[in-house]
Amino acid sequence: MRVVRTLAELAAALERPRNERRMIGLVPTMGAFHDGHLSLIRLARARCEAVVVSLFVNPSQFEEHADLERYPRDERRDIELAAATGADVLFTPSVAEMYPPEFATAVEVIGLTDRLEGAARGAAHFRGVATVVTKLLCMTAPQVAFFGQKDAQQLAVIRRLVADLNLPVAIECAPTVREPDGLAASSRNVLLSSEERSRALALPAGLRAANELARRGARSAEELLKSAREEMLERGVEPEYLELVDPDSFEPRERLARSALLVVAARVGAVRLIDNIELQPAAVAAPSQTPREVLA
Ligand code: PAF
Repeated sequence: MRVVRTLAELAAALERPRNERRMIGLVPTMGAFHDGHLSLIRLARARCEAVVVSLFVNPSQFEEHADLERYPRDERRDIELAAATGADVLFTPSVAEMYPPEFATAVEVIGLTDRLEGAARGAAHFRGVATVVTKLLCMTAPQVAFFGQKDAQQLAVIRRLVADLNLPVAIECAPTVREPDGLAASSRNVLLSSEERSRALALPAGLRAANELARRGARSAEELLKSAREEMLERGVEPEYLELVDPDSFEPRERLARSALLVVAARVGAVRLIDNIELQPAAVAAPSQTPREVLA
C-alpha cells in the first residue's frame, strides 16, 4: 500500500489504474479506524480493482474546536490496518493541502441539512462534510465511493449532492457494524469510560424496543418513539433527538406506512453518539376468510 500526502502523489498513484481503466473505489474516512471502517474497506476491495482510503480529520465539519482537538488520531495504526485490509493507496493530506489559503468555496445541500444532525451540530457541519466529500471525489475520481449506514443523514446528504451535481460516481452504503453487545462501532466509543460504555447500550436498546413493537404491528410514530424513549430513559440516557424519518428527505413520518428510519442522538457523559435502525411495517396478515365467505 502506498501512503500519499499530496495531490501530485495521489495523481501519480492513480495514473496506472486509470490508464488501465481499472475500477477505482474510494473510502473517505477521518481515521481512528474501527470495524465499521474496515468493513467499508473490505467492501471496496471486493467491488473495485483499486482501493483508495482517504484519512483526513476535516476541521470544517467540527462545530466546536474542543471536539476537533479531542477527535482520536492514530495514523500509524490506521496505516497498518488499511494495508492489512487490502487498501492500495492511503491518501492523508495536510489541512494546507486540502484548504490552501485562497480556498473560498463551499458545497451546501439545502433543506435536508437543516434538521436533526444539521440542527444539533450547526449549519457548518454538513457544509464541511459536503465540501470535503466533493473535493475528495474530484481529486480521486472513483467509480464508486463507500459510506456507512450509521451516519444515515450524512449518507442522504452525499447521495443528494452526487445526484444534484451530476457527479459520475456510484454511492454504496455498508450496514452499521456493531460490537457484540449491540453498540454501533464509532471512533468516539474509545472516549467513553466503562460506566458510560455500558450506559451507551441505551441507544441500541431503545432502537430494538421500537423495532420489536413495529414487528408486532405498531404503526404510529408516537407509539414507536414512546417505547424507544422509555427504554433509553430507563437505562439512564436522555435522547437529544429521537425521530421516525423518511430515509431520503429526513422529514418526520407520523406513521410507519413503508420503510422508515428511526434515528437517535444522545450524549453519554461528554461523548455524543448517534445510531439508527430501519423499521419496516409488519405485513398485514391476510384474513383467512373474506367477509363474503363469512356471510355465506
Ligand atoms: O464520516 C466521516 O468520517 C466523515 O464525515 C467524512 C465522510 C470522511 C468526511 O470528512
